[in-house]
Amino acid sequence: MTGMPIPHDPRHHNEPTHEDPTRFWERRYAESHQVWSGRVNSVLAELVAGFGPGRALDLGCGEGGDSLWLAQHGWEVTAVDISTVAIARGQAAAAAAGIGPERVHWVAADLTDWTPSSDYELVSACFLQSPVELDRSRILRAAASRIAPGGHLLIVSHAAPPPWASGLSGHDHHRVFFTPQQEVEALGATEGDWEHLIVETRQRTATGPDGQVGELDDAIVLLRRK
Ligand SMILES: C[S@@+](CC[C@H](N)C(=O)[O-])C[C@H]1O[C@@H](n2cnc3c(N)ncnc32)[C@H](O)[C@@H]1O
Repeated sequence: MTGMPIPHDPRHHNEPTHEDPTRFWERRYAESHQVWSGRVNSVLAELVAGFGPGRALDLGCGEGGDSLWLAQHGWEVTAVDISTVAIARGQAAAAAAGIGPERVHWVAADLTDWTPSSDYELVSACFLQSPVELDRSRILRAAASRIAPGGHLLIVSHAAPPPWASGLSGHDHHRVFFTPQQEVEALGATEGDWEHLIVETRQRTATGPDGQVGELDDAIVLLRRK
């Protein structure tokens, strides 16, 4: 996530899971003028700072905070999200920052049907998670297959619900939250083909919608293609 989410109604985590994904995410973005903080994900910034820039693919880029940071650090970015509203916000933020389409190529598309047109030195998926249908394994596998030798795959995901979302059912937990080991298994990323640089859960402190402070668990996976 681009830093921390703007606090929002926790019912979003509990909504029915059968809504069409495009409709769900368009509505989610349209109902507030800004959903995420606009800041880069701190894990991405920390880890990617050590890599030479190249071509990056940001899966489920949202309002584009990570993509903008990558572009500002020399990466040529393809930023993809299912929401046209989110993509338009990313484009507007890029224009305001003087970052042109040659540095971030914005794509409004369902990643389930979208095919990468090049190889990448970095694929990042920060909180590519959804309470509605999302064929996440297929998307991550397809993107990982386009990582060049020596390139990196970074996945940051919620490993557990926030302490303030107590209404979540076990079924929803199963659908939405992942351990880092589950991420690697779902990818089929064996150590024969990939260096497993980081496969761990990290805690961070966050503020909930009513101002309550709690610890969130993030699953971090960083792999390098051999
Ligand atoms: C939890 S948000 C994270 C956004 C952003 N990566 C961040 O960290 O701020 C998940 C994002 O995935 C996008 N998304 C969900 N399903 C998608 C799909 N099938 N194809 C493309 N994007 C999708 C949503 O629109 C949303 O922007």
